[in-house]
Amino acid sequence: SRRQDICEVKALENLPCNVSVAGWVRTVRRGKNILFIEINDGSCLENLQVVCDHRVNSFSEIATVKTGASLSVSGKLVMSPASGQRVELQGQIVHIYGRADATFPLQKKGHSMAFLRTMPHLRPRTNTFSALTRVRSALSQAVHRFFDQRRFVYLHTPIITANDCEGAGELFQVTTRKETEVAESPDSYEQDFFGKKTFLTVSGQLEGEAYATAVGKIYTFGPTFRAENSHTSHHLAEFWMIEPEASFYELGDVMNLAEDFLRFLCGELLSVCAEDLSFFDSRICPGVRERLEKIQETLICRVSYTEAVASIQEADTTFETALSWGMDLQKEHERYLTEVLYGAPVIVYDYPRELKPFYMKVNDDTKTVAAMDLLVPHVGELIGGAERESRLEVLVEQMARCKIDPKAYDWYLDLRRYGSVPHGGFGVGFDRLVQFVTGMKNIRDVIPFPRSAGSI
Ligand code: 4AD
Ligand code: MG
Repeated sequence: SRRQDICEVKALENLPCNVSVAGWVRTVRRGKNILFIEINDGSCLENLQVVCDHRVNSFSEIATVKTGASLSVSGKLVMSPASGQRVELQGQIVHIYGRADATFPLQKKGHSMAFLRTMPHLRPRTNTFSALTRVRSALSQAVHRFFDQRRFVYLHTPIITANDCEGAGELFQVTTRKETEVAESPDSYEQDFFGKKTFLTVSGQLEGEAYATAVGKIYTFGPTFRAENSHTSHHLAEFWMIEPEASFYELGDVMNLAEDFLRFLCGELLSVCAEDLSFFDSRICPGVRERLEKIQETLICRVSYTEAVASIQEADTTFETALSWGMDLQKEHERYLTEVLYGAPVIVYDYPRELKPFYMKVNDDTKTVAAMDLLVPHVGELIGGAERESRLEVLVEQMARCKIDPKAYDWYLDLRRYGSVPHGGFGVGFDRLVQFVTGMKNIRDVIPFPRSAGSI
């Protein structure tokens, strides 16, 4: 019969019936002339119990199978007489694809995340990582649904670029030059592959603006790179970012879009990944499901940076860093806002001009820019966005203040020279989003193959 996923088989109602499955052995228990083999194929959290007695083909060969081995089983699916599972499979034909021996590192359950991080190629065979992988996939699909329903066009922006969008200098350089060539002329890139200095992108925003000011509304969803030397549980050197950008959007529209986005994704996940979410709720982070449910029902508070600073200064809490107007919010301040004061996600807008990149719209007070950050409990900054500076003269002045050579960004200035419009957008750290919805503590544990300072 046709091979089925274990998640399908587990749901079958008309029993007994013949089924065929394949997967990897989680545990084997041996009785007298009987074997109980728990197999898992990664389609769901649950294992399928396979019962083999002496009538199965080559019983003695199968009897030596160990945790980690791969096999297929055809047989009769019946109601299980034992408690612990609804159905079990009476194996008739078992085929061993690949054996595993006692060196297979995932013998027992309950390994630490740090241990599993040492084997990113095998950790997907654990429940936590198979659940994460499914959640990551479901969230990605939901991201595309959200934007597609609102007629945002999916745009592919380049990975290799000559600009530093965020101006933070956290760039990975891309070069084909040999060490000897670099030694001879360290600052000359004329002979390099592209004829100039190039980097892995830190954001597709600038290219996104070019298309948003042509087709109206776009979004990107792709890998992003930052040589940030921070050893925190929320920073990766290679992460995935979603960046919508829309013409005729002002700051309020950008905040509305960010709020709708978060609510939509949490709602989708509650319905599409209910079982995996239960797992995270009971095993990884109690209360994580309720957090997603609450977002469905409540509006997200919006406070200006100035108000946020005032409420942190008035707080009945002592912070390691005393905050004054003009300083960036530290992790402890973000935590206070999202976990104590509001107990929920919160949007902070109108940040001091000096804290933010050159492209943000300068407000009338000339001290702040039309920026917005969405902060969430457990993670901190999940979304960062802004209304963009659409006035040519102000943008040029901003570039001068940030010591950016306007010649290098002439194409970007063209967007203000020809038919400039108010527009804006934001960037979502997809991996942080996965952390938020699953409650996973370390960002290295929500991406299949993490890259971070000192570790690849
Ligand atoms: O706030 P950021 O730097 O904003 C931008 O890059 C804008 N160009 C986005 C835009 O307006 N189109 O980054 C956006 C988000 C952050 O809020 C954070 O969630 C995530 O990207 N992020 C990281 N995630 C993981 N590891 C890192 N090193 C990250 N740096 C930023
Ligand atoms: Mg930011």
